Amino acid sequence: MDKKEQLYEGKAKKVYATESPDLCIVSYKDDATAFNGLKHGTIVGKGVVNNKMTNYLMKKLSAEAGVPTHFVEELSDRDTLVKKVKIVPLEVIIRNIAAGSFSKRFGVKEGTPLKCATLEYCLKDDALGDPMINDLQILACGFATKEELDTISSMAFRVNDYLKDFFAGVNIDLVDFKLEFGKSADGEIVLADEISPDTCRFWDKTTHEKLDKDRFRRDLGGVEEAYDEMMKRVLGE
Ligand code: TMP
Repeated sequence: MDKKEQLYEGKAKKVYATESPDLCIVSYKDDATAFNGLKHGTIVGKGVVNNKMTNYLMKKLSAEAGVPTHFVEELSDRDTLVKKVKIVPLEVIIRNIAAGSFSKRFGVKEGTPLKCATLEYCLKDDALGDPMINDLQILACGFATKEELDTISSMAFRVNDYLKDFFAGVNIDLVDFKLEFGKSADGEIVLADEISPDTCRFWDKTTHEKLDKDRFRRDLGGVEEAYDEMMKRVLGE
């Protein structure tokens, strides 16, 4: 399957049409941004890590946790064939340990284990700075239906249950992560976008070293090394 015209360019990926109206090709870039695009940089090899890690985890989530995804076939190191979906305009964030904006907003020290996993939604809208939004606000604005939100939240917690165990097996605490969901042509809600060090916080269980995009966001150095280390732990490569 070959790339046809470019449909969309995001901050970290490009999306191309294919000869099939139901399929797209996602192409992962090395470009990195933070703080709603205010900070720019390049993380060499990031596109390859994020592509391969996402595909590996989506295959496992589908086969072992019954989570439907947009994944179809990995075409190359950076390119993947996916189902064409309409992205539900929500960032779905699950947290197991306090960090980042949660710690700032609620004054809970980074690293505090949460008594239960939390879920929050942000509206995917760069111009508005991806504001937090609650269930009723989502329904009131028509960004998703009640049925769609029920499906999305239960799938997000299922993903968390599976991934927490998976990452524990490679000595990683899954601190928090962001998911996006899409609606396929036949109306099915599927997991879309990516699951990678760009979209998850990964801390080494023993040393608590950060092995994710916070190294770029917070200028901690060793950014490429962290992505490579996560690739090694997840894929053995
Ligand atoms: P936060 O603590 O900054 O709200 O981030 C929570 C999680 O969501 C963290 O794992 C990083 C991820 N994330 C994204 O994938 N994209 C974003 O634009 C932001 C702000 C966070």
